Amino acid sequence: MSLPLHIGFIMDGNGRWAQNRGVPRKLGHEAGAKALEKIIDRCRTVGIKYATFYAFSTENWSRPKEEIDALMSLLDRYITELHRKISSGEADVYKDVRICFVGDLSVFSDERLNKLRSLEKLTEKPSEQMRLNIAINYGGRNEIVSAVNRFILENPGVPINEKEITSRLYTDGCPDPDLIIRTAGEMRLSNFLLWQSAYSEYYSSSVYWPDFTPKELDIALDAYSQRTRKFGNVAK
Ligand code: FPP
Repeated sequence: MSLPLHIGFIMDGNGRWAQNRGVPRKLGHEAGAKALEKIIDRCRTVGIKYATFYAFSTENWSRPKEEIDALMSLLDRYITELHRKISSGEADVYKDVRICFVGDLSVFSDERLNKLRSLEKLTEKPSEQMRLNIAINYGGRNEIVSAVNRFILENPGVPINEKEITSRLYTDGCPDPDLIIRTAGEMRLSNFLLWQSAYSEYYSSSVYWPDFTPKELDIALDAYSQRTRKFGNVAK
């Protein structure tokens, strides 16, 4: 069975999951964070080398302040807890996992930024088995514009090419995603990995993200293994 090297996850449906239970949306996000951990573990054990999770987009700032605060507080708690578990050797899930935050992190306070950087540093290792990207304040268009602007600053007057853009993306060092999985039955990219997903296979799961179990991931992987990828060529 062919396994994707890199999977991108659009974790959709936390709000509806909560609404169906008559509980506040923030509990949907909390349940989503638990599902995330199980999926990271499954990705690592089946041998996925790169996984990128869309946790907060550049457009998510338009949500009600209460929800943004709940998501940021969840992120802070998640990072602090990860730092503690990994430093104490308690977290098997993250064994040999390198964690990177992808997105425009310049909007975050120094305190939050230091926490993010410190977790990245803690998990930086030469023998990494899996690179885990957590996309926060991430937007595909923003990423491309920032890559182009960096190139222009560094090379005034020089024509840009695809390689120069790719090497300046937040995901530098990762191959393009082979598979993008979105939950909650939605079939949109929502500004996720726009440049990188030019030839990604797309899979939509009908379950809400908090219900996306390792078994659901296995079903998606099985569907992926049946796809024929052509990259503009004819089927071989
Ligand atoms: C989309 O569902 C989900 C988000 C905007 C947030 C994703 C965040 C998590 C899964 C929590 C884990 C994050 C970390 C790293 C702590 P939605 O709220 O748009 O759902 P809806 O469409 O049903 O309303």
